[in-house]
Amino acid sequence: MSIFVEQIREALRGRHPILYLQTPEEDRVIEALRALLPECFKGGSLATWDCVQGLAPRTAADDTRSPVGALEAIISSPQQGFYVMKDLSAFMDDPRVVRALRDAYRAFVKTGQTCVVIVSPDLVLPSTLEKELCLVQVDMPAPDELIQKALQVQKQYPRAKLAPELQPELSMALRGLTLQEAEHVMHRAFGREGASAKELLAEVFAEKKVLAKKSGFLEYIAVPFDIARVGGLENVKEWADKRRSLFTQDAVKSGLPVPRGVLMMGVSGCGKSMMAKAIASLWKVPLFRLDMNLVFSGLYGSPEAAFHRALKTIEAVAPAVLWIDEMEAALSRPKDEGSNQSRMFSAFLTWMQEKPPLVFVAATANRIEALPAEVIRKGRFDQVFFCDLPTEEERRSIIAIHLGLNGVDPRSIEIDRILVHTQGWTGAEIEQLIISARIDAVQEKRQVTTDDLKRHAGLIVPLSKTMSEQIKAIRDWAFDRATRASRAKPNY
Ligand SMILES: Nc1ncnc2c1ncn2[C@@H]1O[C@H](COP(=O)(O)OP(=O)(O)OP(=O)(O)O)[C@@H](O)[C@H]1O
Ligand SMILES: [Mg+2]
Repeated sequence: MSIFVEQIREALRGRHPILYLQTPEEDRVIEALRALLPECFKGGSLATWDCVQGLAPRTAADDTRSPVGALEAIISSPQQGFYVMKDLSAFMDDPRVVRALRDAYRAFVKTGQTCVVIVSPDLVLPSTLEKELCLVQVDMPAPDELIQKALQVQKQYPRAKLAPELQPELSMALRGLTLQEAEHVMHRAFGREGASAKELLAEVFAEKKVLAKKSGFLEYIAVPFDIARVGGLENVKEWADKRRSLFTQDAVKSGLPVPRGVLMMGVSGCGKSMMAKAIASLWKVPLFRLDMNLVFSGLYGSPEAAFHRALKTIEAVAPAVLWIDEMEAALSRPKDEGSNQSRMFSAFLTWMQEKPPLVFVAATANRIEALPAEVIRKGRFDQVFFCDLPTEEERRSIIAIHLGLNGVDPRSIEIDRILVHTQGWTGAEIEQLIISARIDAVQEKRQVTTDDLKRHAGLIVPLSKTMSEQIKAIRDWAFDRATRASRAKPNY
């Protein structure tokens, strides 16, 4: 049974006459409330309201399509049971609606016989009603509800097979979908003649990707990323490789410790974002980048509501890696919006602790001083890695990688000479160096030479020169708080 049904029971026991259920699943709520009727309002009934039909079943009142008219009709001749208000949240900025709800509260809190249930995908809670409304968070359908739905759909396809041994895997894959979404995807999957178990699951995952896109703030990063394109950072690579078999449904089932998240902080251009992509590729799970600018844009309601929705969506697409780039900037905003700052961060930290197992967070941060101390506390992220300027050996492999990516045979270049000229450089700067040398060579229709690279190296001023103070500060901070991403001792 879903947790929200128990919460409704509790709320009714506490005599709350107005409940607010945040969910797009109106039908699921109505079904659950109907099941509660005999226990909570013996002999009672359930009526619904929306702004097109008004109250249903119809009442003696003439026209109940206006929200105030409907609430007045309910207050003047209340029936025992539930009134499910479907569109009311859209009218919450009308003072008359707020007043009518307060009147309803006062009338029904005394009798305890009538309960108004506001159902909405968005959370629109006027502060003037905070005391009257009892908020119930609706959890996503439980695995048994989802399997029940899949079996229901299967009955309509006599030739479709849903082997009992596939059910646990399917329920895990369906997790996070609403019952309606699960119904659609199962129709599509069963509708394909002779679909194998693997194809059935692939259909579910495809649906989840579309869902993430629809939500607006999650970008599906499709390009598979080869970890061999990362030079150095051996500690992170080894860490991710060891956990490859732990980020699976089998591991969850066997109660093994499933990785929760990793935070990569450090010098700009040293491969933090690249590592997030590499981990998802290594574990063969989809990677979604959370676009916090969109969350804060106001296009999707209040930032808190949008952020909540984004986190729910990522749960829906699990197993997945959630990539939050530049977390300190993403979760905090300039001072004038400061009131949201700590709320967003604390909402995120709470979610980190409660999130379902197969959502892995790969976060990156540049300005670590802007991160609240709790972020670093053990238990939130499994590991905090510090990506420093690459060591000499790391630079050697980064140079070879980028030469290769630019069609230059590393054996044709005297890498030792380039190393002398790139001391203290970041991976991004080395990449830039090779690209600009290549552009010259292409124009002159010849191969890149060691001298080209040397010449271009003289033109680039590395960050470690222009920002030496900041880099020193990052290193000092990281010294006893983070694990080095490189295995080698620092020797730049
Ligand atoms: N260790 C590395 N191996 C290979 N390429 C690297 C490495 N580090 C950086 N690069 C190159 O530099 C580019 C920038 O790296 P990336 O975006 O991962 O840096 P970042 O640490 O996230 O920087 P920022 O803090 O500015 O976001 C990469 O696309 C990659 O081509
Ligand atoms: Mg980055």
